[in-house]
Amino acid sequence: MIQYNESNMLFHLQGPTYSYLLGVKNDVLMQYYWGGRLPSDAVEGLLELRGEAASFDTAHSRHPLVVPTQEKGYFGQRALCVVNPEGDDVLSLRYQGYRILSGKKPLCGLPASYVENETEADTLEIDLKDELTGVAVTLSFTVFHAYDVLARSMQVKNEGDKPFKLTDVQSAMRLPADKYEIIHLKGAWARERQARRVALGEGTYAIKSRRGASGHENNPFMAIVKPHTTEDQGDVYAMTHVYSGSFSAGVDVGIDNEPTMMIGMCSDVFNWDMAPGAVFQSPEALFVYAPDGLNGLSHRMHPFVRQRICRGKWRDLPRPILVNNWEATYFGFNYDKLIAIAKRGAEIGCELFVLDDGWFGKRDSDNCSLGDWVVNEGKLDGGIKRIAESINELAMQFGLWFEPEMVSPDSDLYRAHPDWCLHVDGRDRTECRNQLILDMSRKEVQDYIIEIVSGVLRSAPISYVKWDMNRNMAEGFSCMLPAQQRMETQHRYMLGLYRVLEEITSAFPEVLFESCSGGGGRFDCGMLYYMPQTWTSDDTDARERTRIQYGTSLIYPCSAMGAHVSAVPNHQTGRIASFQTRCDVAMGGNFGFELDLSKQTEEDLATAKKAVEMVKKLRTVMQQGEYTRLLNPFENEGRAAWQFTRENTVIVCVYVDHQQPNPQPHRVKLAGLDPEAVYTDAENGISASGAALMNLGLIMPSYGGDFATKVYVFEKK
Ligand code: GLA
Repeated sequence: MIQYNESNMLFHLQGPTYSYLLGVKNDVLMQYYWGGRLPSDAVEGLLELRGEAASFDTAHSRHPLVVPTQEKGYFGQRALCVVNPEGDDVLSLRYQGYRILSGKKPLCGLPASYVENETEADTLEIDLKDELTGVAVTLSFTVFHAYDVLARSMQVKNEGDKPFKLTDVQSAMRLPADKYEIIHLKGAWARERQARRVALGEGTYAIKSRRGASGHENNPFMAIVKPHTTEDQGDVYAMTHVYSGSFSAGVDVGIDNEPTMMIGMCSDVFNWDMAPGAVFQSPEALFVYAPDGLNGLSHRMHPFVRQRICRGKWRDLPRPILVNNWEATYFGFNYDKLIAIAKRGAEIGCELFVLDDGWFGKRDSDNCSLGDWVVNEGKLDGGIKRIAESINELAMQFGLWFEPEMVSPDSDLYRAHPDWCLHVDGRDRTECRNQLILDMSRKEVQDYIIEIVSGVLRSAPISYVKWDMNRNMAEGFSCMLPAQQRMETQHRYMLGLYRVLEEITSAFPEVLFESCSGGGGRFDCGMLYYMPQTWTSDDTDARERTRIQYGTSLIYPCSAMGAHVSAVPNHQTGRIASFQTRCDVAMGGNFGFELDLSKQTEEDLATAKKAVEMVKKLRTVMQQGEYTRLLNPFENEGRAAWQFTRENTVIVCVYVDHQQPNPQPHRVKLAGLDPEAVYTDAENGISASGAALMNLGLIMPSYGGDFATKVYVFEKK
C-alpha cells in the first residue's frame, strides 16, 4: 500500500512486513524511515522522534536525502553524479510532483521485476528537477502486496538545452543508526559466493565488479545486519541489482551514524552522454528488510526471484533431470560416445541430455571456432539433428551449449569481421581462454547472434540451451562509439545482450534456457529474468558445493541453481566423496549428472537411479518449497544442513565434513514445523513431534567417513 499525506507531504510505503517513509521538506525529498512495518497512523510520531519535523537547516550535511547529490554541504556518498555543461557537478534536485499507479511498468530494455496483474502492486513515481541545468529525475518505487521486496529505479532526463554527462547512478537507502555488520559474497572462478561477514566501521565499505559482468569475484548483493543476527533472528537490510554487468555496492556511515547502502552502476567503467532530450533508465535495485534473520531474508527473496523475476513457461514447471557431457568427455566425443552416455542416462531415468562445448567449427580444444556456430560433421556425423533425434528416441529431451557473445581469433567469423570484437585500436587485444568478446553494443552483431542461434534452434528438436560466457572485458570498448561516448560501451553491451536474450527467449518459449559464465560468473537477477536457472559453479566437488550453494542461497532460490553429480577424484579438487554424498548435495539445486555414466559401476548406477527417483518424487518440494538453512558450513567445522518444506513434506539434508573418533554428538534442529503435529520419516524409522524436531533435533551421522550425508524425508500427519 502507498499512502500520501498531503498536509505534511509524507509518502508511506507499506509492504507486508516493512515500511519505507519519504517526505518532502522545503522541496527536498528525504527518507525518514526504512524498517519494520509501521501502523498507518504512527507516521507523525515517527517524525517527531527523528527530530526532522521541527527543524530544517539549509545545509544538507545531516539530511537523509533520497537521492544524495553534490549540493549544499552534503559530503557523503552520492547516488547521482553529473558533470554539468559548465564543468561543475553541483546538482540541486527539487521536488516537482508525484503519481501513484496501480501495478508496475516494465523498464525499457532492461530486466526488472514484474506483475501479472495491476492489483498486485502499487508504484510511486516522484519527479525531481535541477532548474539550472534541466537535469530531471523520476524515481520509481514499487510495493508488492504479497512480496516483501521493494523495487526501485530511476530515470534521468535532460530537459535542458545543453548536454551533460552522467557519471554515477545508484539506488540509496538509509538505515537507522546502530551497530552493524556486512555480509557479502566473495569469490573467484570455481569458488563463487563464499559468504563473508565483517564489521561495519565508521567509513565506507564497497564491493564492485568492473569486468563487464556481475562476475565471480563479487556478487551484486550486500546485507547489513546487526552483530547478533543469525539465520533465525535479528535485523537484515539487504539489496541486490537486477543487472548482469559491472556494478558497485557499498555502505557508507555518515556523521549522524546512519549508514546509507547503495547499489548501482560501477562508475569506474560508466559514464553517459546526455544530449538535450536524452533519457537514461537505471537498472532496478531490490531492497529487503527482514526482522527475522538471514533465513527471513531468503524466505522473502526466494519466492520473489522465482515468481517475479524469472519468467516463461519453465518458471513454475519441475526442472528436468539432465546429464551433461562436459566433465564426461570435454572436447573428446563423437556420436557413439555421446549415445553411450545418454543410454545409461535414460536407463536411470534422466530426462534431458545436454551436449556441451565442442560440437561446432573445428573445436577440439578451447583455442578456436567460437562464433562459427555450424556443426562439425566430422565429429558428429549427421549433425545436431541426428544426435537430437537419437536422444529423443531414448525418451530424453536434447539440449545444446552455446557461447554466443564470444569470438575466437581462429574463426571464420573473426577473419570476416576483425572489428566486431571489443578492442582499442593500437593496443593488444587481450585474450582469455583464447577468445575475444563480440561487441554486443552493435546492432549488426546482435542481429548476427539472433540469426545464427535461432537457425540452429530451428534446425533440430532442441529443448534446452546452456548460454555460456567465459571471460570478462579487458579492452572493453566499442570502436563504433565516438571518443566522448566510449565509456558507454559496457552498459550498451548489456542493453544489446538483453535485446538478444529477449528476442531469442521469446521466439523459443518452449526452450529451457540456463545461463552460465565459467560456472557462476553471472549469477544475478538480470540473467534470471531471461533464463530461470544458472550453472552455479564449475566446481562440482560435493564438499565445496555445500559452501557455494550456501552462499548462493542467501538470495537466490534453489530452482535457480544447477547442481550436478560428477566423477571422483573430483576434477577441480581431486577429492573423493561417495556417490551417495554427491547425489545428496546435488539435490540442493537443479539435479543432474556431469560424468561418463557409461563407465560407472553397477552399484553407483543403482545409487544414481534411486536419487533420480527421489528427485522426481520430491522436486516440487525442492524447487518450489521453502528453503531454510539449518547449519552454516562456514562456521560449524564444515557441517552443513538445509531443509525444504512444502505443505506436509519436510526434507532435511545433513552433511558432515570430517568424522572424529568418539565424537560429541552434533545435532541439527529443524525449523518452522508445527510443534503439535507428528512428523514421520518411514525410511529412517523416525516419528516425532514438530516440537521435538525443532527443540532437540536430529543427530548428525557420526560414522561413515568424511563428507558423509544423510537425507530425511518427513511427512506431517
Ligand atoms: C564453462 C562452463 C562449463 C563448460 C565449459 C565449456 O567453463 O562453465 O560448464 O560448459 O565452459 O567450455
